[in-house]
Amino acid sequence: MEKMAETEAPIHELIGRRWSPYSFSDKPVEPPMVMSLLEAARWAPSSFNEQPWSFVLGRASEPEGFERLASCLVEGNAWAKKAPLLILSVAKLTFERNGKPNRHALHDVGLAVGNLILQGEALGLSTHQMAGFDAEQARTNLSIPEGFEPVAMIAVGHQGSPEDVDEALRKRDAAPRSRKPLTAFAFGAGWETPADL
Ligand SMILES: Cc1cc2nc3c(=O)[nH]c(=O)nc-3n(C[C@H](O)[C@H](O)[C@H](O)COP(=O)(O)O)c2cc1C
Repeated sequence: MEKMAETEAPIHELIGRRWSPYSFSDKPVEPPMVMSLLEAARWAPSSFNEQPWSFVLGRASEPEGFERLASCLVEGNAWAKKAPLLILSVAKLTFERNGKPNRHALHDVGLAVGNLILQGEALGLSTHQMAGFDAEQARTNLSIPEGFEPVAMIAVGHQGSPEDVDEALRKRDAAPRSRKPLTAFAFGAGWETPADL
């Protein structure tokens, strides 16, 4: 299914095409593709080039590792257990260079994930990020040390067919994508004064 963005200005086709489906097929994500996703994340910019991201991978083909991630998902995200690959993004909260708090760690992890999901789109994969997981359980299950923060879970795979999911999710998959207009977030002369575009 395609859900191309309706834009107010031209954007790169990859950005317009990407969307977050609920239905995934069980076709695995081959290792070279997984490497490409991580390589794309690797080349994200970051504050002081600290690269404060880590990723924990759970493949459906390795049930124990997969379950360590899947068991952290909230009930409402149970659909993601059908995806053949789950990835947890993790942020290092302090700078390696001086041990001080890195105020941009979450920002930088988001940039890395932004690269990862667009690379996925370029490879014909679908991705769906999730905040709905138990971060403390993830910390325990995956032995994530203090000073590192579980950020987001990402379901990765090939898009499934609408029949693979229940009626409620099928409706969400079929719903049009929506965004605020540019004027709602691009300010000029003052806060909430729309920029003169
Ligand atoms: C950080 C983050 C957390 C999200 N958490 C969830 C989630 O827990 N469950 C879910 O179904 N979708 C989740 N989403 C997906 C968003 O709902 C989705 O990206 C948004 O509605 C825009 O749709 P699109 O990605 O198809 O353009 C999350 C997305 C992001 C970036």
